[in-house]
Amino acid sequence: MVTLEQPALQNAETVWRFRNDVATRRELGWRPISYGDCLAWIADCVSGKIDQILFLVRDDKIGDVGFVMFDDDTLTGVRQIRVSIGPAFRGKGYGQQAIKLATTIGETELPQTVNRRLIANVRAENYKAVFAFESAGYVEVQSFVGPDKIEYLEFEYKQT
Ligand SMILES: CC(C)(COP(=O)(O)OP(=O)(O)OC[C@H]1O[C@@H](n2cnc3c(N)ncnc32)[C@H](O)[C@@H]1OP(=O)(O)O)[C@@H](O)C(=O)NCCC(=O)NCCS
Repeated sequence: MVTLEQPALQNAETVWRFRNDVATRRELGWRPISYGDCLAWIADCVSGKIDQILFLVRDDKIGDVGFVMFDDDTLTGVRQIRVSIGPAFRGKGYGQQAIKLATTIGETELPQTVNRRLIANVRAENYKAVFAFESAGYVEVQSFVGPDKIEYLEFEYKQT
């Protein structure tokens, strides 16, 4: 069974590993982060100091396989979801399940953002992420070229 768990500081090394994974950094446009900065980030997420909500994706038979997070932009009222599954666990359905579970939590348990939009920005060539978001009920609403000159697709969750 796959569940989402709020990380504790003892999970920091796991989060740090997933967060610094090369493909994750490429897809999310993230720079490498030091272990100390990762600890501080987790603490800020858990304490609510920043508008980011982080969950570890846990398989009860295997352990932690990745993370999924929400990032609320309080100015625009848009909530963005990002997901990272560890390289050894990709292509086994975890990404899809993590997005579905997180979306349900975002829609039913978390306070809503001002304009209630839940979006994901995905590189157009990232077909696995495209499939995973589409199968979790997200639809493509626009495409744009990022500051890195790469084409991105914006997906938005549409409740059926
Ligand atoms: C993108 C990512 C989250 C997908 O997670 P995953 O666990 O590897 O993907 P899943 O096993 O859930 O598969 C997702 C879809 O890709 C399809 N897929 C998986 N492997 C595939 C392959 N080799 N060829 C074709 N399709 C494939 C699955 O069938 C599924 O499609 P479906 O929903 O239509 O059945 C994961 O690869 C990852 O963490 N990548 C790095 C970070 C990233 O890209 N994040 C997304 C931006 S927010």
